[in-house]
Amino acid sequence: MQILDGKKVSEDIKNEIAAEVQKMKDNGEKVPHLAAIIVGNDGASLTYVGSKVKACERVGFESTLVKMPSTTSETELLKKIKELNQNDDIDGFIVQLPLPKQIDTQNIIMSIDPSKDVDGFHPENFGKMALDMSTFIPATPFGILELLERYNVTTEGKHTVVIGRSHIVGRPMSILMGRKGFPGNSTVTLTHSHTKNINQITSQADIIITALGVPNYLKAEMIKDDAVIIDVGITRVVDETSEKGYRITGDVDFEMVSKKASFITPVPGGVGPMTIAMLLKNTLLAREQKRL
Ligand code: GUN
Repeated sequence: MQILDGKKVSEDIKNEIAAEVQKMKDNGEKVPHLAAIIVGNDGASLTYVGSKVKACERVGFESTLVKMPSTTSETELLKKIKELNQNDDIDGFIVQLPLPKQIDTQNIIMSIDPSKDVDGFHPENFGKMALDMSTFIPATPFGILELLERYNVTTEGKHTVVIGRSHIVGRPMSILMGRKGFPGNSTVTLTHSHTKNINQITSQADIIITALGVPNYLKAEMIKDDAVIIDVGITRVVDETSEKGYRITGDVDFEMVSKKASFITPVPGGVGPMTIAMLLKNTLLAREQKRL
């Protein structure tokens, strides 16, 4: 069994990005600038956005964090997005999800300038992704592809089972794994809450990608020997022995499943850090596209 070490690979990617930024600086060029909008005070979302801003500093990007109260109206958020769309200094930005109930997420995503949509959530970018056109690929799926590529995990002709059909992870992942090329050329089954006999499906999978948010959901008896396991789950569970009072748990029963798997991502230290690295990569691409 080999660990797919997202922490290490994400450090490699950040070093590569930092080297690119250094070149830009040496040439007297503007460095990439990422902005993030966060609405409300959700602890996990604040932590993720904080990590994104910290990662910008680490690679030499400029960053702007826009914090808005949980009572923000859709109109107010749309106004802020318009400002970022029009601000030439900002190369890319994200609106951290989920948003408070009074705001329609799809309206918000639609209002982002596709050329600055480094999350790749805008229908124009999502459509381009599905049509194999060059675009921003959503950071978590992009990070999973990069991890599979850097560890040379064979995907060609394999049966990939994706668990969860979220717009952020499961749905794009199911499209990307079936695309031509590497990583891709896989036969994909997308499973969700209405899927029947899920154990029967997962036990036939060569590659399983779980993006459910249910701790310890995937058990050893649900997988076949030597399966590749990608765990996208990041659920906070109460842990009084930890300083923070919680710990992060994935969707996979790591202890038992890792004994049977050929490759597996740990949580934390697997997919999570890759997401941040690929957001930086998309921001670098957004900057580079403006230079052309
Ligand atoms: N919430 C959970 N994952 C993501 C992500 O990749 N981007 C944004 N904007 N919000 C998220």
